[in-house]
Amino acid sequence: MNFNEELRDRVRYAEEVVIKNAALPEEGYQKTVLSAMNYSLLSGGKRLRPVMMKESCVLFGGDHPCLEAFMAALEMIHTYSLVHDDLPAMDNDEYRRGKKTTHVVYGEDMAILTGDALLNMAYETAAQSLEKCGDDPVLLLRAVRALKVLAVKSGIYGMVGGQVYDVEAEDKNVHLSEDSLLFIFRLKTGALIQAALMIGAILGGADDDAIDTMEQVGEAVGIAFQIQDDILDVNGNPKVLGKPVGSDAKNHKTTYVTLKGINTAAKDVEGYSDRALDLLHTLNVKNEFLEELIRFLINRDR
Ligand code: IPE
Ligand code: IPE
Ligand code: MG
Ligand code: MG
Ligand code: MG
Repeated sequence: MNFNEELRDRVRYAEEVVIKNAALPEEGYQKTVLSAMNYSLLSGGKRLRPVMMKESCVLFGGDHPCLEAFMAALEMIHTYSLVHDDLPAMDNDEYRRGKKTTHVVYGEDMAILTGDALLNMAYETAAQSLEKCGDDPVLLLRAVRALKVLAVKSGIYGMVGGQVYDVEAEDKNVHLSEDSLLFIFRLKTGALIQAALMIGAILGGADDDAIDTMEQVGEAVGIAFQIQDDILDVNGNPKVLGKPVGSDAKNHKTTYVTLKGINTAAKDVEGYSDRALDLLHTLNVKNEFLEELIRFLINRDR
């Protein structure tokens, strides 16, 4: 089997996991927001974070009864971050995952609440799954540690923190240094990728050193991923991307491309990805698919 087929299978599996854990009936007085949750969450994303979580768990040769719930939970948090990122008060974008953004279809009020609801549903889903550990203290402890990572990496010292500085820098129209831009990338994008790799490792039974290594791998992959996102905002094809290009320029953002130029940016995507692979090679376990995925992302066009 070749990499593309393997990727397709894994994405399909992640998609099923998200649907199984997230699809809610669109009924009752909250019908509008339930419909908006399904609209934003249930189609179109690349599902990379749940795929990475699963592969990190596989890397450590483990499995865990809560793994699927955590895969879905992380995709819910990621999707909420996108719904809010697209709001008029933030990036003000009209397309996401090949469709009109949630606020365009459902209104700003419902988009804010949809994000809130997805964020909350993530913790509902993860917390509920703890019951699957039965009375096994080892499984339970792993799941609780995973829950903590999910919370920390999504919050003010994680994704939200990065979004805060990203938006604030744009409002003040300041020219960011490379250090500040990397701070933003590490948090707004790196943190949820770190969560994917760390949670997979924790649930799979990795030791503390290996979990630290996966955190560093996630940081490097996250920076590479956001540099490539900045590149695609300049030279991507909106039909393939499923979101507009030129969003960063419209918002007068300092990006990796405005700072270093597109050629250096492309080289640095490779550099950070190589760093991630080198870190993975320090482990005494190996997952070829995960390594190929990191290489594949260097040249992604969506
Ligand atoms: C988009 O993430 C936001 C960034 C962190 C750059 P993805 O490119 O993974 O978006 P989806 O999930 O495939 O829509
Ligand atoms: C957003 O970065 C990262 C998030 C935490 C949502 P961008 O604003 O560049 O992401 P896109 O390009 O809209 O997907
Ligand atoms: Mg943004
Ligand atoms: Mg955006
Ligand atoms: Mg972008």
